[in-house]
Amino acid sequence: MRAIVDRDRCQGHNRCYAEAPTLFDLDDELKSVVLVDIVPTDQEDAARRAERNCPERAITLVDGDG
Ligand code: F3S
Repeated sequence: MRAIVDRDRCQGHNRCYAEAPTLFDLDDELKSVVLVDIVPTDQEDAARRAERNCPERAITLVDGDG
């Protein structure tokens, strides 16, 4: 699984970091950045929570590693 953040949608609500601090962080512009290339298997549930809880729907999860 990969996680993608749409920077145009992200408004810095930071719920992604709250749900999955090993996967997301905020940059200097208070936009979410994805910290990993591939989401570790044991973090996939956290990634799904982050996706669901983003009020701007800025996070997309893509199955597989391609
Ligand atoms: Fe941005 Fe959504 Fe996270 S608005 S900071 S991707 S919760």
